[in-house]
Formats: sequence, structure tokens, C-alpha cells
Amino acid sequence: MSQQIVSEGVSVTVAQKLREDPAVKQSIQTLLDAIQRHQASITGPREADPELAEQYQKTVEEFYSLRGGKLFFPFLGSGIGKGSLVELDDGSVKYDFINGIGVHHFGHSHPKVTEAMLWGAMSDAVMEGNLQQNTDSHAFSKKILEMANVGGAGFDHCFLTSCGVMAGENALKIAMQKKFPAHRVLAFEGCFAGRTTTFSQITDKPKFREGLPSMLNVHYIPFYDESSGSDSIEKSVTALKAHLARYPGEFTAMIFELVQGEGGFYTAPVEFHRALIDVLKENNVAVLFDEVQTFARTHALFAYQHYELDELADIVWFGKASQVCGTLFRKEFAPRPGLLSQTFTASSGAIHAGCAILEELDSGDYFGPDGKIARQHAYFRSHLERLCEKYPDKMAGPFGIGAMVALTPFGGEAAKVQALLHDLYRRGVMGFIAGGNPMRFRFLIPIGAVTEADIDAVVEILDQALAEAD
Ligand SMILES: Cc1ncc(COP(=O)(O)O)c(C=O)c1O
Repeated sequence: MSQQIVSEGVSVTVAQKLREDPAVKQSIQTLLDAIQRHQASITGPREADPELAEQYQKTVEEFYSLRGGKLFFPFLGSGIGKGSLVELDDGSVKYDFINGIGVHHFGHSHPKVTEAMLWGAMSDAVMEGNLQQNTDSHAFSKKILEMANVGGAGFDHCFLTSCGVMAGENALKIAMQKKFPAHRVLAFEGCFAGRTTTFSQITDKPKFREGLPSMLNVHYIPFYDESSGSDSIEKSVTALKAHLARYPGEFTAMIFELVQGEGGFYTAPVEFHRALIDVLKENNVAVLFDEVQTFARTHALFAYQHYELDELADIVWFGKASQVCGTLFRKEFAPRPGLLSQTFTASSGAIHAGCAILEELDSGDYFGPDGKIARQHAYFRSHLERLCEKYPDKMAGPFGIGAMVALTPFGGEAAKVQALLHDLYRRGVMGFIAGGNPMRFRFLIPIGAVTEADIDAVVEILDQALAEAD
């Protein structure tokens, strides 16, 4: 999509001629070759270069001060990586199995993604949005709608935006305008929805809304609890019905994370979701799927496709791995003019990269029960099961689905989980925390880049860390 073909004898734009210019193509190839040549020396995790370490530490400290707070890891990337590996500015190299919490799903310096960004970098505009959208925004919207509708979802529109929570805000605004004057929102206990003032009210974490005024009436439903099976379905349906009975006609929407992300990679059988959706549909409450974290991580592009809930989805939003975020909806939900707009959609580079990622996901062998996502999950899982058997007092799990894999170390005791994560970081593997009680740690497998050898190496490091952990 980045390079459109110039047809013979047909009028073409200056930009099309530029894209077809052999000298431009050659220059891009030269840059890609240079990246590949330099990447070749990134072969595995390594420690910081002693000559760079001191300056790096100073830069990190200064950055903490500039941004007004520490980062979870003292990480400043150098700007290059190779697949699952990323180089830091102190010359160290780490396995990145969290990829910026889900952004670098194709790993680091992936040739197709880099090439797309280079084409995007030649665009006249740094950022697209509002009054200026280029043809790549059109191409992205068309492609994602086509892929979102393969199972019969029937979405008519995709409104692009710059981050996951804005895509969620847009979804909720659309639902609220449609369902006015209903205004209450339902969500799952332990959910994460984002961090705007409004969405901090939905995100079920008191620390994330400390000091913020309550802008929204949010009512929570327990997520599926595997240990109580069908009783759990009944419990959640009962809770939902109780909320609906207490405030009849006042509920706009329920927000589903079909797999809980920040909450700890908890899954639920499809009957659980269907039982709740049946009640919501009977009560004219919109069904909203937040796919910011699940996008391209289950056995289908969207988790609603994985669970075959296509026709039941009213509004869906996605982000992270897609680079540019967006909200999908049918024409019945189309907002009146004025409700949605913004200055920035995303950078031209990000939109070009998003297009290339969609093409690759569509044409590659990623999805389905035997696709790369399922295969790498099974491979990783079998190793992690072995580790859990080897260290029964230190590790439980694995949990999750597809590219989302979690473990519960040390019974989920927060301080110990975090200490283990930092120890892994020092040893050359990046994961992240999830959930609170118990605290888990999670990996987001960089599925577009990962190899079995990467997984073997990560498991080996985890094994060593567990062997030495108290
Ligand atoms: C499920 C879910 N929704 C929304 C968001 C917010 O996305 P963003 O941080 O891009 O605004 C996240 C981010 O982690 C998420 O996991």
C-alpha cells in the first residue's frame, strides 16, 4: 500500500511519481540494507558497555527528572533492535517480551515495518488528522474494515485516532449519543480501559483514579472465575440483572475486555460472554469490545472473531499493535456531526506501518488453531509448564491465550513479583506486571518476529532467575 503502482497512460500525481522513482526505491533499499548490516551484530542479550554505562545512568536520571517520575525499568532505547531483541543506549541488549506493553508486535527494526515507515517519512506531513488525512488513512480504514468483517460483523465505519483510550472515548461518546439519555456504564471488575479522566473511572484500579473527580457512573460485574465454573456465569448474570433493575433504562453500554489485559490475562469461555450479552441486548444496552490489548493476539485478528461474537458487537476499538488506533461501528451508531474530531490521527510513518502490519497479518500464517500465534503460545507454554513443575513453590501457571502469557510467581506477592521482574531485566529479559491481587507477571510475545530459539533463550534465563530467587 505504501507504493502505489503508476499505470501507463493514466494521470498520476507528483507523489505517485516520487514513489515510483527508481532512485527513491534504491535509496530506501540502501537504508534497509544498512539497518540489516548493523543489526547483524545483535545476536543475543548482552550487558552494558562499561564505557557507555556511566553516561547512560546520568541520562536516565535526567530523564526521570524531566518527566517528573521514574520509569518501571531504567530503559532508554538506542533506536535499533533485531526481532525480539532490543538495544539500549548503554549498548546492552535485551529480549523484549513486553514490547512497549504491546506496541512492537513485530519486534524491533522489522524490515517490512521499517520500510513502510521510510515511505511514510517521505510524506509531506509529520502527522495526519482533522483537516489533513492522506491516502494511507483511507487505505488503513478500508483494510481494517475488510478484516474486521470477515466473520459477518458488518461494521460500516472506522474512525481513526491517536491512542487506545481516545478510541475508547470515541466509542463511548458514540454509544452515549445513540442511547441518550441513558448514561450509566457497566464494566468488569479488574478491568483496564485507559487513563483519561473519564476512563480512569472505568479502569478498576483505585490508585489510577486517586484525586480525580467522579465523572461517570460505572457499575462492575465480576469477571469469569475459573474455579467456580458455571456458578461464576450465574453470579455475573445475577449481578448484571441487579444493576439493570436498580436503574432501569439508565445504562448506555457495557465495556468488555474479552481477555482481561492489565488485569492479569484472565480468559472466559464464550458462554460467559454470551450469557451477559443476551441480557444486555434484551435491555437495549450497547455491547462494546475494547480490543486495544487483544488486537492480533488471540487466534483471530480480533478477540470477538476468536470467540465468534461478530454479530453481537456494537462498537469495537483497537490499538497498540496496529500503530494507529480506531473505533469500528455500524451506521446505526453513526454519530451526528460535531461529536468526533481531533488534530492528530497518527504520524504518516505510523499509518504506513499500520498498513504494512495489516497486510502482513492478512497474508501471513498468524491466525487459526494452527497459526503462528497458537504454535508459539503452545511452545512457550510447554516450557513454562515444565518450569512451574520444577519450581512449584515459586511459580504457578502459565495463564493466558495466544500472544498473551502470564505467570503467578511467589503466590502473587507484589514485592517479590516486582523483584523477579527487575532481576529478569538485569539478566536480559523484559516482561511486566499484571493484576494486583494476586500480582502476575506477563509476557506479550512479539509474534511477528519471535522464533523458537528466542523462546528457548528466554525460558533458560527465567529458569536461572528462579533457581537463584529466594
Ligand atoms: C484494554 C486496554 N484498553 C485501553 C488501553 C489504553 O490504551 P492507550 O494507552 O493507548 O491509551 C489499554 C492500554 O494498555 C488497554 O490495555
